[in-house]
Amino acid sequence: MNFEKLNWENDRVVIGDFTFSLGISKPENFDKGDECFVLWKNKAILDEYKTYFSINHKQCNNVLELGMWDGGSTALWYELLRPKRIVGIDNLDKKDTDYFTRWKHQRMEEDGSFIKTFWNTSQANPQQVRDIIKNEFNSESIDIVFDDASHHYSSTIVSFETIFPYLQPGAIYIIEDWAWLHWKNWVHKFPRGEDISRLVYQMIQSAGSYSDIISSVNVYPGFAVVERGSKRLTDDFKLQDHIFLPTYTKKNTFKKRLKAAVKAMIE
Ligand SMILES: C[S@@+](CC[C@H](N)C(=O)[O-])C[C@H]1O[C@@H](n2cnc3c(N)ncnc32)[C@H](O)[C@@H]1O
Repeated sequence: MNFEKLNWENDRVVIGDFTFSLGISKPENFDKGDECFVLWKNKAILDEYKTYFSINHKQCNNVLELGMWDGGSTALWYELLRPKRIVGIDNLDKKDTDYFTRWKHQRMEEDGSFIKTFWNTSQANPQQVRDIIKNEFNSESIDIVFDDASHHYSSTIVSFETIFPYLQPGAIYIIEDWAWLHWKNWVHKFPRGEDISRLVYQMIQSAGSYSDIISSVNVYPGFAVVERGSKRLTDDFKLQDHIFLPTYTKKNTFKKRLKAAVKAMIE
């Protein structure tokens, strides 16, 4: 892990020869012009990741990222984790920037690694996502998934149920910004009913029901880490099928007892 190589400045983070402008877009008159990545993250979340990865020593040969924005996060995860293979998916109708393309070729040549992006691809399209996993990971299982895409419940659960069976036991599935429902400055930006903290709660319920599907859920303010259990899962995996909830019989209420008494009197 290369977190100690991150050099933080006001509007950017630098790692080696590569500059990442911080925020949703780079500032006008950025001194590097287009010679930088745009990274829609801040120091706080990367400090949380640093803490997580310093405690949890995870294998990271094969990495899948959902939600690339400008490609900066894909490049950053590569620089930090140095996987053998990293694949990114985003539903934006765009292409890799020239800076990203040059960085990618340099890294693939120097390291013999594999870096590939799929634009125009939705996390909520199980067939497309499954084809990418089967074709691009060479039948090797995935070690880490970063989901920083829609943050909507309906599409986040689809990609989770599609991808989770392809993780090996001990591999991790990370859901970024899972807590937006509880952030008063952000909640209005998302549609009602699409909160993903509900999904994290379902994951916790599953871990408590059957630990061979989800073996742990670690929750941080900026992301949740779901660890894959050992049970083999198939393409029809549905999280809800792996949650046990008891069914209680209804209470013998006063109204019910009265009704029964009246019925007995009539009979
Ligand atoms: C918060 S941005 C990602 C930021 C990026 N990971 C970074 O740190 O710089 C969310 C991204 O998810 C993408 N996205 C939204 N819905 C998606 C979907 N259904 N499938 C794939 N990507 C999606 C958006 O186009 C956007 O690029």
